Formats: sequence, structure tokens, C-alpha cells
Amino acid sequence: MLSRSVKLSLRFMFPLAILLGLFAYIVVPLMDNLTLRWSVRDLDNRSQLLAATLQVPLREDVLLNDKAHIKKLFDGAIEDERLFALGFCDPSGKLLYKTSTYPQSLGCWEKPTDGTKQKSLVQLPRGPVHVADTPIEDNGTGLGRLILVHDMSFIERRSAETTKYVLIFFALLGVAIAFLTLLVSHLSWRGWLASLNDVLRGQLLPRDVKSTAPGATPPPPPPPEMEPLIGELRSLLEEYHEERQSSSSNNSAEWAPEKLKALLQQDLAGDQVLVVSNREPYIHEKNADGTIRVRRPASGLVTAVEAVMRACSGTWIAHGAGSADRETVDRNDHVPVPPKNPSYTLRRVWLTEEEEKGYYYGFANEGLWPLCHIAHVRPVFRSSDWEEYVKVNRRFADAVIKEARTDNPVVLVQDYHFALLPRMVREALPKATIITFWHIPWPNSESFGICPWREEILEGMLGSTILGFHTPFHRKNFLDTVDRYLETRIEPEASTISYGNELTQVEDYPISIAWPDYPDTQPVEQCRTEIRQILGVPEDHLLAFGVDRLDYTKGILERFQAVESMLERHPTMIGKFSFVQIAAPSRSDLEEYMNFEQRVRKLAARVNDRFGSDGYLPIILKIEHHEQAELQRYFRASEVCMVTSLHDGMNLVAKEFIAARDDERGALVLSQFTGAARELHEALIINPYHIEQGAEALYRGLTMPPVEQRERMRSMRDRVRRFNVYRWAGHMLLDAARLRKREKVMQKIRSHSRGNLRRVS
Ligand code: F6P
Repeated sequence: MLSRSVKLSLRFMFPLAILLGLFAYIVVPLMDNLTLRWSVRDLDNRSQLLAATLQVPLREDVLLNDKAHIKKLFDGAIEDERLFALGFCDPSGKLLYKTSTYPQSLGCWEKPTDGTKQKSLVQLPRGPVHVADTPIEDNGTGLGRLILVHDMSFIERRSAETTKYVLIFFALLGVAIAFLTLLVSHLSWRGWLASLNDVLRGQLLPRDVKSTAPGATPPPPPPPEMEPLIGELRSLLEEYHEERQSSSSNNSAEWAPEKLKALLQQDLAGDQVLVVSNREPYIHEKNADGTIRVRRPASGLVTAVEAVMRACSGTWIAHGAGSADRETVDRNDHVPVPPKNPSYTLRRVWLTEEEEKGYYYGFANEGLWPLCHIAHVRPVFRSSDWEEYVKVNRRFADAVIKEARTDNPVVLVQDYHFALLPRMVREALPKATIITFWHIPWPNSESFGICPWREEILEGMLGSTILGFHTPFHRKNFLDTVDRYLETRIEPEASTISYGNELTQVEDYPISIAWPDYPDTQPVEQCRTEIRQILGVPEDHLLAFGVDRLDYTKGILERFQAVESMLERHPTMIGKFSFVQIAAPSRSDLEEYMNFEQRVRKLAARVNDRFGSDGYLPIILKIEHHEQAELQRYFRASEVCMVTSLHDGMNLVAKEFIAARDDERGALVLSQFTGAARELHEALIINPYHIEQGAEALYRGLTMPPVEQRERMRSMRDRVRRFNVYRWAGHMLLDAARLRKREKVMQKIRSHSRGNLRRVS
């Protein structure tokens, strides 16, 4: 089959051949004519020379009428191969002497009587000849004319040769041009394809993909000749991107629990949904008086996946970490949840202290967490932690296998705690649809490379059918990492990885929240008043708010520094403004987290010492767990919400704040290093490392005119409502359904072709 470049070259070569033929057709007669003129001029000169040589002996012989000598003279002269014949005519025009070769029809070559110029070229039956005459005189008396006849047949030979060479020349020229064209077009085609590929992978990934995430390797610059094309392609892609977004956003307006349920029933008919995560959605804890209370953990993962599970039912497998967890499960370690209105099953997995220490605190949170966040805390990798990590992944995989009622359940694996589990489940349930979602960032390949078990981690994850990240940037980092450390086949355009006999689809699915319905929400005014009363500040006191797990990736120190700087730069705010930080204690058994808590407390105290007075605290720090309803009240009571993560996969606090503000008021200060910054463009986007920038954004938020607040808030609310968590799960499940269908078709084809083979043999 002809390659595309050869076809293109042929398209060019055909007209080229016609053009060159035409050229030869015009050039050959021109060359002939030119050669003839040169030859005639040569023969004119030659004839003059010969005549001059023969003049003297001929004159004497004519005077003596010595015929014998004249014959000898003439015959001697025509021995020259070109001189064909000689003749001599007297003044009356009578041919007196001639060689035997002299053409009779030529006579005395009289001049034309009509005054036209006598032609030296005469066409005779034997071929063309050149004729020239020279007068022979004796002391001024004309004795006659010597007529010299040159053979011109060599001109024809020369013309034929010239024609041949000209044609050969054009043919060779044609071949050379064709060859060069082929070569150049082939090389350019390849070069173009390569550059286009680069461009599509790096330069043309939507601009926002080229995030400024810490540790990001910038894509190589495009070759200069591609610049105009890049511009064109970029705008085309952006148009496409916008169209895609607007079409999916139209769909997403309808993404709701009912739609998700319908999708599960129709597209994944009868399939069972299993969720695996480390953190459980409901923690049963014992109070001091022996009663049991249920607590919701501070976890973005739980916030999002819980909404999906309520819609889909199924079983959620998680670590039972609460002090009363064992007391509340049945003999299969199951407990129906949510407690007040059960809609799915929580299956608890029990871990020993040693397992939790090595797998959760050690490998997951001292190793993978800092490794993926690149937030200036060095990851720690210990073999003993790794062994526990492998063991616990096996424990959870076994739980999944045990809970599966069919051989093809849909398994939703959550986060970095279970990188090995997808392959373990795949080996036991080859037909399962395994969707793994990585809730934290994925670093660049160099950074990831420091993990001593990087290959094992990647191999484990590639047991998934679908692998999801929050942003295209993290997805691309993952593809690069696999490309660097594993022997796989990657299709970057389709975003798939083939490893062994399995195909993994790698996609970005930005996570979100369930849009709240507000029936029992306190009115904003009431929240404002009550929260200010709780805090002991006046009614018109300005509030900014932050809520996070107490984690070094959240930029809490930078946030406090921004508050300090804002008070320095805008002293009118002193006494009139406070920053409320709720920090849910997290991973407090780790030294890094203990130290971090100390630093947070110390900094808050320093700022309060510096700017506080008479019960006035610029920073109100509450290091304790708060329930969601309480947080809602803070969101609604504050002028500004600050999210200043140094690196964050998505950050749902930002979206929760937006969702809480049904009054369309309030301003969001948002770190550019969060996945949320890719969606919430109307927030005040900052680099949290730039303290003054954070300070000014905070001030701007506190003083933002209501009209501007409304405009920004309205647009962000619209987006969060449409791009909700059901859309997040729906897109993953739709992709899974598509892949399952494809797999079923492939299986039919395989068994069909096996049947055919058996029949043939
Ligand atoms: O960001 C990753 C994540 O799993 C979140 O989903 C969640 O907010 C957080 O970590 C919870 O951490 P942990 O379960 O260790 O308290």
C-alpha cells in the first residue's frame, strides 16, 4: 500500500512530468535552430578560408585552361570529409569545371531574381548542403566564381544527438526532482507528525493544563515553524474544548442521584458496586458515659463518595477505626448506613496497631503523601512500612473478593492507600470493572522516581480498568511516570496504557460535592449573628474563615502570615477583623504533624500578641473537629473564605463555601496550586507562597463591593451546581459501562474465532 507521503508526492510528480515534457517540446527545436545557425556560420567561414587557399592555383589553371590540373586541384580539396563538391562557373554562368560529386541541379547557384537574400542552405534529394561562392579575378578582371558545396548531413546527426541528450537531461531532471520531492516530503511529513505530536501532547494541551503545580516540568518549546499552526490548532482545540464543556455542562445540569441510579441500572445492569477506602464514612465512638455517638470524618473523599453511595447503594469497605466500631457491626462486620436512613452497607476491616502504623501512618502518610504533594516535607520510606502496606492491601483485596456477589462487580478504589489492590483484585476477578481514583496530586516522574517501590506501585495501579485523577496535569504526569519506569505501550491521544494483556484508561475526573438543598439551613443573617456571638466579637466585625485538616500541605502557616501582613499593610483593619481557623486534628501520631501543630499554634499566638488587645484576637484558632452543619454556619457567616493549599488534588472546602452561599455574597481566596483553581476562575487566585499577594487578596475580599461579590459568586455557584459529584461519578461509571460493553463484544469475538479455529482443525 502506498504511504500517504508517496501518494502526495505522486500528486505532485504527475503535473511535473507534463510540465517537463512541454518544456522539452519547446526547447528541442530552439536548440536545433541555434545549432544550425552556428553550423552555417562555421561553414561560411570555412568556405572563405578554402576559397582563399584555392584562389591562386585556380586562377592560373583557369587562365591556362588546364583542365587536368583543375580536376586534380578540386579532387584534392574534396578529400576533406566535410567539403562535398566544388564547381567553377564562368562570368556568363556556365559551369566549366566541377567535381564528379557536384549536384547537377545546383547549376551555377544563381542569385534569386526577386531581390531576396540568397540562402546558403540548399535542400537536395540526398540531404541538405551548404553552398558558398567566391569570385576569382585576375588583376580586376572577373574570371568566374568558385562554388563550394559542404555536406550538411552532420547537422542532422548533431540535431538528433542534441534532441536525445536534451530529452535524457529532462528525464533525469524529472527523476531527480521526483526523488528529492519524495525524500523532502517524507522527511517533512515525519517531522510534522512528530512536531504535531509534541505540540498536541505538550504545547496544545489546554493552557490551564499547563498548571504551575510545584515540581512541574514545562513542556519543550514548539519549533518556530510550527508557531502559526499552533495558534490555529490551539484556537480550534479551545473551540472544541468549549463546545465539549458546554455540551457536558448541559448534561451536568441534570446530574442528580436519580440520574446516577438510572445509569447504574441501565448501563451497568445488575452490577454490584463496591467502594474501598481507608477512611470510613461513619465512625462509631464511645463517649465517656458509655453511650455511642456517630462521627463524620473530616475528609474530602468521604464527602464526595458518600453522596454517590447513597445514590447507588452497594457496599463500602473501609478501616474500622472508631472505638465503638466493633460493637456496632453484625457478624459479617457489616453495618447499614447512614444510621438514620440506611441506603448502603458499610463493611469494616480491622487492622492491628502494627498494621495501621506501617500501612497508614508509615508508607501512606510518611511516604506517598509527601511524595505526591511536593510540599517541602521529605518522604520517608521504610521496608517495614512497605511490608505492612502490601499486607493491608491484600487484606482489603480479600474483603472485596469476599463481598463480590458476581464475577464482574464494579469496584471503586479510593486513593493512595490502595495502589496495589487493583491488581490483586484483578487477578482474582478478571472480569471486574476496577475504577481507581487518586485523590491527591500525581508528581512529575523524577519526583515519583525516588520511591523505592515505584514499579510495584505502578504495576498495582495498572490492574485498574479506569484510573482517574483530578486534573489533566496529574493524568499527564502519571502517563509520563509509567512511560519512564515500566515497559508498556502508551497511546497518549487515547490516554490508554497497555500492560501485559490489560488496557487501562487514564482520565481526569474533577471531583466535586453534592449540591445542597437548603430546607433546614439557618438564614445567613442568623448565622452571622450567632457565630459572632460565639466568637465574642461585635455584630459588624469582619470575618475570614479557613477550615482544613491540620496538615502541612494546606498552607495554614502561609495563611496566618498573610493575615499578619494584611494587618501591617492595612492597620485600619486591626480590631475590626478576625481570621477564624478550624483545624481538624489529623495523623497526630506522626512527628511531622505534631511539630506542625506546634508551629501553627506558635504563629497564631505571635500574630495575636502583635495585633491583639483587650480580648481582641486577630486569629481565632480552633484545633478540633467540627461537624458539617457547624462548618456551614461559619461559611455563611464569613466575608471571606481562604484556601491556601501548597498543593492539593482538588480541595472541596472551596466548593463547599461556594455551595453554602445561597445569598450570593462572600469572596473566595484560592491557591493556584489546587485542582479547584482550574474551575473557580472567579475566585481571588493567589500563590500562597507570596505572602503579600495573599494579604492583598484577603483585604480585597473583605472590602469587595456587594455587586462584585454577587457577580463572582453567581458564576462559581452555577459551575459547582452543574459540575457536581454525581457528574464526577457518572462520568466514571459511563466510561466503565462503555469499557464493559467493549470487553463483552471482544469476548464474543474471541470465542467466535476460537470456535471457527476448532471447526477448521
Ligand atoms: O486528600 C486525600 C484524602 O484522602 C482526602 O480525601 C481526605 O480529605 C484526606 O486525605 C483524609 O485523610 P485521612 O483519612 O488520613 O484523615
